[in-house]
Formats: sequence, C-alpha cells, structure tokens
Amino acid sequence: MFSARLYAGSLRSLRPAGTFLRHLSTTKVCLGRAVVYANNGDPSSVLSVVSYPPVPSTPPPNSINIKFILSPINPADINVIEGVYPSKPTKTDALTTQGLGSEGKPVFIGGNEGLAQVTAVGQGTANSLKVGDWVIITKQQAGTWMSERNILAQDVARVPQASKLQEDQAATLTVNPPTAYNMLHDFVRLKEGDWVIQNGANSAVGQAVIQIAAAEKINTINLVRSRDNIDQLKEQLTQLGATHVLTYDELADKSTRDKIKVWTGGKPIRLGLNCVGGKETTSMARFLGQDAHLVSYGAMSKQPLSLPTSLFIFKNLTAHGFWQSQWYKTKSAEDRDKLMEVLVGYISSGKLSTPDHEVLQIKSSQSDDEAASTIREIFKKLSEGRYGKKVLLRVD
Ligand SMILES: NC(=O)c1ccc[n+]([C@@H]2O[C@H](COP(=O)([O-])OP(=O)(O)OC[C@H]3O[C@@H](n4cnc5c(N)ncnc54)[C@H](OP(=O)(O)O)[C@@H]3O)[C@@H](O)[C@H]2O)c1
Repeated sequence: MFSARLYAGSLRSLRPAGTFLRHLSTTKVCLGRAVVYANNGDPSSVLSVVSYPPVPSTPPPNSINIKFILSPINPADINVIEGVYPSKPTKTDALTTQGLGSEGKPVFIGGNEGLAQVTAVGQGTANSLKVGDWVIITKQQAGTWMSERNILAQDVARVPQASKLQEDQAATLTVNPPTAYNMLHDFVRLKEGDWVIQNGANSAVGQAVIQIAAAEKINTINLVRSRDNIDQLKEQLTQLGATHVLTYDELADKSTRDKIKVWTGGKPIRLGLNCVGGKETTSMARFLGQDAHLVSYGAMSKQPLSLPTSLFIFKNLTAHGFWQSQWYKTKSAEDRDKLMEVLVGYISSGKLSTPDHEVLQIKSSQSDDEAASTIREIFKKLSEGRYGKKVLLRVD
C-alpha cells in the first residue's frame, strides 16, 4: 500500500541509503519537504520538518505523482497529532534515506485535507487523470502537509475544471462544506422558512451552515462567544446570510425566549447543530421545538454534553452525532461526486465563500529547523484558541 510506504520499494531499490543525499548536495536537485511527527503529543512540541528525495518521475501503475498546492490545518488535525482522534494515520519509514522518516525511524505525515496538482500519471489509472489536473485527497489521513508525493489514483478526486475554483476554495472543499450540507439535509427535511439554531456559528463549518441555509431559504439563529469586536462579527455573519446572531450571554437573558418567538412567529426550531458541547449546548437545546433533532459534530469546549431529560420526554428530542469521515466511508463515489457538484455549484455562484484564512508558506529558503519553528509557532497560537482564521499550509 502506498499509504504505508510513500514510494514503496522504489526509493530503496533505486538509491542505496546514504548516497542519495550526498549526490543531491552537489547537484542541487529540489528536495521535497514534509511536516512530520514520530510520536503523538502537543503539535507545538512534536512536529518536525524533513526534506526528502524527489519522487521518482515515473509513478508505479495505478498511481500518480502530485504536487501539493494548499493544505488546511483543521481542528481535527490537532486531535490526530495528539493521538485522540479515532481515524489514525499510518507511519512511513520510506520518506527519507536517513534520519526521521527512514528505516527504523518511522514518522506520521501531518494533514488530512489538501489540494494538489497532478505532475505524472502511472499506467492504468482508472479515473482518466491528466498532468495538470487539480485533485483533492479523499483518503482519510493520507498525509497532506508536504510538497509532493506519489499516491494511488483511487485516493483522490478531480476538481472539475469547469468550476474555476480558486486554490483556497478547492483546498477547503472536502471537510467543512460537506459537513454543513449533510447536517442540514440528513436529519430533518427542512422546508423554506424553517428555523435552525447552531453554536460555534463563526467556525468554518458554522459559516458554511449559514450560507447553505441562506441559499436554501432556511433561517438560522447563530450563537457565538462574545468578544471586543462582537458587532463586527455579527455584521460579518449577517452579510453571509445569518438571520440572527446572538452571543451565549444574550441567549441566557430572560427576554431572549420572547424575542425568538417573535422572530420565528412561534414556529418550532427543528434542527440544532452543536460544534461546542458543554453548557453552550445545554442552553441552546432548550430552544429546540417539538420533535426537533440535535446534531453534534464538534466538541470545541472539550466539555461533556448534558441535556435535560425533560427535552426527551416532553419534546421528543432526538440527539445524533455526525462524522463526515463516516459519511465518506459509507457512501459511494457517485454520492461523493454528486455532493461535490452541489457544493462546487454553490461556490461558483458566489453563495458559499471560504472563511477568513491565511496562507502559511514553508519557504524553500528555510532550513528544516527554521521551518519546524515556524510550524510549531503557529500551532502554539492555534492551541491558545481564538486565532480567528483558518491556516492553509503551502510547503515549497
Ligand atoms: N464531525 C465532523 O465530521 C466534522 C467536520 C468538520 C469539523 N468538525 C469539527 O467541528 C469543529 C469546528 O471545526 P472548524 O474547522 O469549523 O473550526 P474553526 O473554524 O477552527 O472554528 C473553531 C470554532 O470553535 C469555537 N470555539 C473554540 N473553543 C471554544 C470554546 N471553548 N467554547 C466555545 N466555542 C469555542 C471558536 O469560537 P471563537 O471564535 O469564539 O474562538 C470557533 O467558532 C471542530 O471541533 C472540528 O473538529 C467536525
């Protein structure tokens, strides 16, 4: 399997260990680079950057060579590195010829989501990929925080060229927008004018929920944490299509129940989406109507979920969990392509935008140690919370 050994066999058989890098240092061949870790732990301590020999230019059959364009850092990636996420990557010891990522010193390569460009196509690839095509990685935990790799053609999906997506739009297509779309469609048959309430509404998923709901004429009540520039955040979410935005403190105010009744015209709120867990979700759930569904997809507060029993007895509440990875596992490639088509349609028509983000570039001029400090620094900031922007990694 290529996932376990990136260029299984080819590296060792072509180049005896130890000789390749010396050869490179005299001829200045461009090395690949990857963000890796040997052991689980706090990303700001365990992540390293390693250089590795270029991918052999002829890919083995059924595989392609790709060059990564942008790879997001999502909250779940942090949990994967910490070792607390259910889907696990596989270590490789065929990345380098010596040091981290070589035989006896296997490493995980970070990253799950990513946009790449095809640079070479092996014989017999089934999905008619061509050099120059943009692809997104569909295999879970394949390792995307790197500059280039070989991968089985079946582990990617082509970004339709007609869609003319920008790099950031395509790079962030596979995790958050599908989560938002599926949660809005898979649990309750919502009709125009129905109401949804969600917490963590300014998260990337929350922003996609707001926009997809607005495009489908569904009303949203959006809950966020208060902050100094709360009016600016409320305005930003309203611009995206939020019907109403409240802070958790405002939700707790006694007058809010009546306010919401006026907004909804007394219509029951049929769907609640939980990004946060803890008391923010307990209070949100109290606003759900008869026969409503509460769908939990994140636990950003790291607090357990506690729901009043009365909501189940008297309001017939149904509580679910949703995991997009499981959706991908259980659905066919046709279902996945259909979903992508819908989302690409929303993006191309300007109805679904990429959340605020910054591109963190690992420059070729940086040494591996310098690049590792850059990476560790950003993870330190992310772990402090409230960073406010998605980080998209570009590894030169
Ligand atoms: N189940 C799935 O299939 C699936 C798919 C995608 C994402 N997710 C999960 O969904 C969550 C959001 O992901 P994302 O990429 O959209 O995140 P994101 O853009 O990084 O945003 C994180 C959100 O969490 C909020 N937050 C962080 N700590 C919090 C706390 N202690 N209390 C309340 N709110 C807090 C932030 O609010 P502030 O702005 O106030 O800091 C922000 O709204 C993550 O848990 C992620 O793992 C799950």
